[in-house]
Amino acid sequence: MNTENSFDALFAGIIGQEYEILKQICPPATEMSRLVGEEVAAFCHAHPGMQTLVELGSGTGITTLSILSAHEGVKVLSIDNEPVMQEQAKNNLQDWVLAGRLDFSANDALSALKALPDDSVNIVASAYTLHNFEKGYRQEVIAEIYRVLKPDGRFINGDRYALDDMVLHTRNTQQEVAGYFKVLTEMGRPDLLEQWILHLFSDESEARIMRESASLAELKDAGFQHVQLKSRLEVNAVMTAVKC
Ligand SMILES: C[S@@+](CC[C@H](N)C(=O)[O-])C[C@H]1O[C@@H](n2cnc3c(N)ncnc32)[C@H](O)[C@@H]1O
Repeated sequence: MNTENSFDALFAGIIGQEYEILKQICPPATEMSRLVGEEVAAFCHAHPGMQTLVELGSGTGITTLSILSAHEGVKVLSIDNEPVMQEQAKNNLQDWVLAGRLDFSANDALSALKALPDDSVNIVASAYTLHNFEKGYRQEVIAEIYRVLKPDGRFINGDRYALDDMVLHTRNTQQEVAGYFKVLTEMGRPDLLEQWILHLFSDESEARIMRESASLAELKDAGFQHVQLKSRLEVNAVMTAVKC
């Protein structure tokens, strides 16, 4: 069985139905979680001993599970300020809590990070959370991520990173919308279709959009080095950055 198949099998068992729907509506979303897990595993292989990781945005636990199952040497504090979402992660991942490898915080990302000491965390990881933040809040979060990371710590984010080429980005986004219509119309879910379209307007708004070059520059301005965008899938990509 290849890595992607075993990843799918793991999710089929635990997050099951939601994962299958997400895979249909937005295939890159599940792939981004897998890729974030791969980056975490690569870091852990290179750094023996238990690594502490703060996750921003538990959601239903898809990215959390990918991180936890990617390597046994990582302990996660998963933050989400939306109880409806975090309850799902708690239900889906209770075995990991019992195993002592997962804790939750119900604070918002900025407050939760502010409560952590300087230089105290090996990895901050996230998927599809930062693009929801308004720019000013996101800047403050990035400064806090830098502060809490230990030297040589990693920030890993799988997210919507808009292409600098606005024409191509618009074309990709239009294809994405066409996909929502196809899948959700066939599923008879106009309610979900409406929600995804409304959400997309917010994602693409000037107040929130994470344009590739500007986002990488923002991280460098905060002090990060070796800032890289990897594994681009249409409007999505994995970003890694190092606190030197
Ligand atoms: C789109 S979900 C992503 C979940 C998961 N990583 C995935 O890829 O499916 C984003 C999550 O971030 C949470 N979130 C949004 N803004 C937040 C904030 N300011 N602080 C903490 N969590 C936040 C939302 O409640 C939501 O559960």
